[in-house]
Amino acid sequence: MPSPCLRSLPSRLVPLVLLGLAGLARSAPPARDVEPRVNELLARMTVEEKIGQLQQLDSVPNTWAIRDEHRDLASRGLVGSFLNIRGAKAINEAQRLAVEKSRLRIPLLFGFDVIHGYRVIFPTPLAEASSWDPAVAERAAGIAAAEAASTGLKWTFAPMVDIARDPRWGRIMEGSGEDPYLGSVLAAARVRGFQGDDPAAPDRVLACAKHWVAYGAAEGGRDYNTAELSEHTLRTTYFPPFRAALDAGAQTFMCSFNTIDGVPASANPFTLTKVLRDEWHFDGLLVSDYESIKEMIAHRTAADGADAARQALNAGVDMEMVSRLFAEHLPKLMEQGKVPPAKLDEAVRRILRVKFRAGLFEHPYVDESREAKVVGAREHRAAAREIAARSTVLLKNDGGLLPIKPATRAIAVIGPLADDPDAPLSHWRGDGRVEDTVTLFAGLRSKVQGRGDVQVTYAKGCDIEGDSVDGFPEAVRLARQAELAIVAVGESSAMSGEAGSRSSLDLPGHQLNLVKTIQATGVPTVVVLYNGRPLTIGWIADHVPAIVEAWLPGTEGGNALADVLFGDVNPGGKLPVTFPRTVGQVPIYYNALSTGRPAKADNRYTSKYIDLPSDPQFPFGYGLSYTRFELSSLTLSAKSIAPDGKLTVSVDVKNVGDRPGDEVVQLYLRDEVSSVARPVKELAGFRRVTLPPGGTQTVRFELGPDRLGFLDANLRFVVEPGQFQVTAGTSSVGGLTEGFEVAGP
Ligand code: BGC
Repeated sequence: MPSPCLRSLPSRLVPLVLLGLAGLARSAPPARDVEPRVNELLARMTVEEKIGQLQQLDSVPNTWAIRDEHRDLASRGLVGSFLNIRGAKAINEAQRLAVEKSRLRIPLLFGFDVIHGYRVIFPTPLAEASSWDPAVAERAAGIAAAEAASTGLKWTFAPMVDIARDPRWGRIMEGSGEDPYLGSVLAAARVRGFQGDDPAAPDRVLACAKHWVAYGAAEGGRDYNTAELSEHTLRTTYFPPFRAALDAGAQTFMCSFNTIDGVPASANPFTLTKVLRDEWHFDGLLVSDYESIKEMIAHRTAADGADAARQALNAGVDMEMVSRLFAEHLPKLMEQGKVPPAKLDEAVRRILRVKFRAGLFEHPYVDESREAKVVGAREHRAAAREIAARSTVLLKNDGGLLPIKPATRAIAVIGPLADDPDAPLSHWRGDGRVEDTVTLFAGLRSKVQGRGDVQVTYAKGCDIEGDSVDGFPEAVRLARQAELAIVAVGESSAMSGEAGSRSSLDLPGHQLNLVKTIQATGVPTVVVLYNGRPLTIGWIADHVPAIVEAWLPGTEGGNALADVLFGDVNPGGKLPVTFPRTVGQVPIYYNALSTGRPAKADNRYTSKYIDLPSDPQFPFGYGLSYTRFELSSLTLSAKSIAPDGKLTVSVDVKNVGDRPGDEVVQLYLRDEVSSVARPVKELAGFRRVTLPPGGTQTVRFELGPDRLGFLDANLRFVVEPGQFQVTAGTSSVGGLTEGFEVAGP
């Protein structure tokens, strides 16, 4: 009988974990013991030691080692946590300072940005969201946690659950896209993956829901910028994935860099205390972002460091990342009565509570012999390959150009992303290494081995950026010799992620010219996109017969893409974010509110641009397959329900093509009339199904008050009587629609 924490593991991981964890079963103290132990410890701490727990410090840049000046602080119990110290040996060494030298022996909590993998890098979270499969997100997070935890890390700064409606914002790649419901389902899955049932288990880490909050709403898509939105929008669009992360057990939150309503998120009593603590009863710890407390001086909302420290602690920040304003100023602020002792105690209590729950007091050290066995394990790579294939989106496939025909004997792989081992790992790569990356070219080469005499040639064509087109002639030569050209274009790893905002969503450099040049040879051409964000690819969408969205697919991306291109895996991913036609359409998202003048092509005085169609290039929820699916028999369990009633919606999905494949059945809800404007449609359910040719499945969704209701103008949650519509579709556009009524009292 597996232990409770193993029972929750994805089945494929269990053998590996049992192998690696034999004799290591571990857990936190029973929940009932935690509070008394926290209080007992707190009672023995000096003010200096308490303030020490509030401090998180960084490692030496690029070496990932503890800084010399921080050793002394750790030995004196004057630091609570480190980020970026890496490797079991280094982490144990640092831990020894706190546990063996400091007066109260309080263990350190080691954190790191394990965003989409530790050594084995999975597709970026946005890519993974394209799987529309919470099991995929949970599995990837579980493996990332197992690898990270084997090195002594006990905390990841993930999942990032910021809703993002602006693809200029580079950090869109770190989240699940534009939809609060999809974002919530995936947030919960990732928290479960990182923490399991028990974050103290040796293969789990504490999760951190970030960035609290509205960081994704940065004006102009410019990182670190102001977010200006109403409480209604905050609560309906930006809060839900955080709430889902909390409900899934997230033990920590990180606040964001932006201001909301003019108040920095690092000292915002409304978000940090009123919502998080008072309304949601979050009892875990809240860490600032990197020096974000100090940045309040630059925001010009704090006069100096002391003022910033006072505001942040009083508003509800528990731990300060890297800047040291709490350490410098709290003693005096307390003497002056500007920070009540109870505020300090509360922050320390939260930090200690989480350390107890993480099992650190029982097991402060990691078994150094496990790291090499767990990190980069073959099974992890196999999972990364499956997950990357499952996250791939087929955007276009005219004439059934894909999958590659078995008779194809010569393939030219072209483009600056075709053999680039760096971009697929993204800006957030944990301990991922370029030498581990399988590029598209490498993946295709190994795929054709054993398929007889198939030639795969490669030409870079041009760089990702820059003016040179010197490589075009060679690329054209190889394309002409081939039966199929696969052109891999997109963005470098630095073009998205933190501080990776772009003002243009076009392919950088001469990449579009490269695509045009190859297409002009007349050789059938497939474009594979490597990108951290939606790109504007109008010409390619209009002219190139086949387009595959690979995103930044991680270590095993090349193998996964080869599986997809050759049809060993039938792509079934769907876009978790809208692809605009031009950057000028941004923000464009499917769940916009209804306007008084919905866009009409033949009416100037409607809400649109005069120089563009109103629809996007590719809508939210869109993605093709090598087979075809049909939906039928949309059935509602009732035509009328009470406001507190439930409705079951069922729809049949049939694979009407000739090969097995996946479809994501999506259910959208529309409230016909409500007292405040609601989105034109809202995702209310989805299910990814796999069907053989000719196979049919009935998919059922249950809709209750939580989906039917909304926040009214007074921010009260209400289910208003009236007419509703449900649409079952395979994207956010089109589908089968039925109406029903929520009856009045
Ligand atoms: C980022 C966070 C990250 C932190 C620690 C910050 O700059 O905004 O997302 O967790 O650094 O690396």
